[in-house]
Amino acid sequence: QVVQAVTFQAPRIPIVSNLTGTVAGEELLTSDYWVNHVRQAVRFADGIGHLDAQGVTTYLELGPGGVLSAMAQETVAEAAFVPALRKNRAETDAVMTALAELHVNGTVVDWAAYFAGVDARRVDLPTYAFQHERFWPEAPKRGDSRTGVDPVDEAFWKAVTSEDLSALDVSGDLTLKDALPVLSSWRDRQRRHSTLDQWRYHTTWKPVDVAAAPVLDGRWLLAVPENLDAAVADWAVEGLRATGADIVTIDTDTDLTAHTDAAGILSLLALPDHDQHLHAGVTPGLTHTVTLLQRLAEAGVHAPLWSLTQGAVTTSDSDPIRSTAQAQIWGLGRVAALEEPTRWGGLIDLPEVLDTQTWQHTAAVLASDDGEDQTAVRPAGVLARRITRAAPAPTGKAWKVRGTVLITGGTGGLGARVACWAAANGAEHIVLTSRRGPDAPGAAELRTRIEELGATATVVACDTTDRDALTTLADTLRTDGTPVRAVVHTAGIGQATPLATMTPTDLTDVMDAKVTGAANLHTVFADTDLDAFVLFSSIAATWGSGGQAAYAAANTYLDALAHHRHTHHLPATSIAWGPWA
Ligand SMILES: NC(=O)c1ccc[n+]([C@@H]2O[C@H](COP(=O)([O-])OP(=O)(O)OC[C@H]3O[C@@H](n4cnc5c(N)ncnc54)[C@H](OP(=O)(O)O)[C@@H]3O)[C@@H](O)[C@H]2O)c1
Repeated sequence: QVVQAVTFQAPRIPIVSNLTGTVAGEELLTSDYWVNHVRQAVRFADGIGHLDAQGVTTYLELGPGGVLSAMAQETVAEAAFVPALRKNRAETDAVMTALAELHVNGTVVDWAAYFAGVDARRVDLPTYAFQHERFWPEAPKRGDSRTGVDPVDEAFWKAVTSEDLSALDVSGDLTLKDALPVLSSWRDRQRRHSTLDQWRYHTTWKPVDVAAAPVLDGRWLLAVPENLDAAVADWAVEGLRATGADIVTIDTDTDLTAHTDAAGILSLLALPDHDQHLHAGVTPGLTHTVTLLQRLAEAGVHAPLWSLTQGAVTTSDSDPIRSTAQAQIWGLGRVAALEEPTRWGGLIDLPEVLDTQTWQHTAAVLASDDGEDQTAVRPAGVLARRITRAAPAPTGKAWKVRGTVLITGGTGGLGARVACWAAANGAEHIVLTSRRGPDAPGAAELRTRIEELGATATVVACDTTDRDALTTLADTLRTDGTPVRAVVHTAGIGQATPLATMTPTDLTDVMDAKVTGAANLHTVFADTDLDAFVLFSSIAATWGSGGQAAYAAANTYLDALAHHRHTHHLPATSIAWGPWA
């Protein structure tokens, strides 16, 4: 009866009926048709099949999501199904993406209508290739150990088949008897490389879907450092307010026991941190964040603490680290997540521009319960940190050890091993530094061992935190005609202090040698053409380690410094060692 009251008009474009699966005619203008439309089976697959038979190859879904597109794709695998809107995606982004997909599938889009009134105009693309960056997934190469083929055996037989003696390090006039030990050592070396390749992992960033209109309920405590740019503080205050939160700005005097019912804590404490603010290797943001965590625990506040940074991580080659200092908080955060899983919310790295969209993405991470606790907000959306397998190391870029190698912490366990390795692999002079220098246990024996391996050794008492002492050492070596060719920074001390009881002195004690030492080496050798600049970092920085928040923060700084040096085309390798047996 209700449908009978409706006045029907004949459609202007053909409609494929869900009742019959073919193009509908006059019956569309009857109430019976629409009653049957509600009551009878939906012949959706037949309708899509009918269109396919007519030669249709592109479909646009007008609806709130992409459910029908997904179903239809199962009927016609080769056609393009384009949803105009997507769940959890901003409408403008979704429609723009849909138009782009239609365009690349050959549909003529009326771009003039789309851009009407926005003063858009065509521009020429640059005629030069300015960034050689590939975005296509790499197919596993032949010989990749993960394909089941032993890459060493494959390389060996390839060289044998092609009679390529140089690839096997064999010179042409060797007898087979003499060639065998050469081949054997070639195989050992290749096997070691192959094993190392299987240990290679790297940090990657995965785009994640987040809510388009997040809501933050309840009271949020906002920790704002005194020296923060007012515009940044306003951005967070206005954002929190616009997303529905009640805000209480807190500082060191705030009585946190009055806020045990808080829904969350947003910390801006790390945002002003710069390398110039490092004190004994520690950023103010790091110290204040540790103190805040401890005060929240003492006050009985159980809400999660989220820490913001800006430019502290790199998500791709075109998105370099802009603040090595702020990277420290990422090391701390990964440990806090292990030690205080209910109190630690996570880390969000912000882009350069803080606008409304940046806030929407930030708030979406804060409001989400998907467990993503290490994220980067970038103009294209939210990225979540992952650790994934890396491709085998590129060949032909190995460090050819030569001249003088400076090893900080050289009289320690790993420093001594590096020294012997360098001596056996081409270094002419090894300079070992530590605070105790020649007085360190085993220093004299180590020097003898290095000399037996064919290099000269100098053991110097030199604190890496003393930039003047390092500068003098580098100048003296240069004047003596033995300039430093490579630096290996192993100086550092370990840690086993839970966050709950960590003092500011614990922070500086653990971080100074590593962080100040690395920063000093970076400065002292800024104008030296080094073959290698190696930093001994740790997996504690990569995925956290209970009781090692300061140690992790220090090592995250080393990793960030290596990235920073790469950006400036300087050599750098930061090795995330696991525990040595
Ligand atoms: N061993 C492992 O399992 C492992 C795992 C991951 C990462 N790592 C990293 O590898 C590096 C070496 O570890 P390790 O086990 O060989 O440690 P280690 O045996 O304790 O040696 C550390 C060395 O650093 C020196 N040092 C400390 N503070 C210094 C300063 N301010 N200036 C100059 N030298 C300083 C120490 O000598 P003085 O006290 O005389 O100064 C010592 O020679 C560390 O950076 C560590 O974080 C080690």
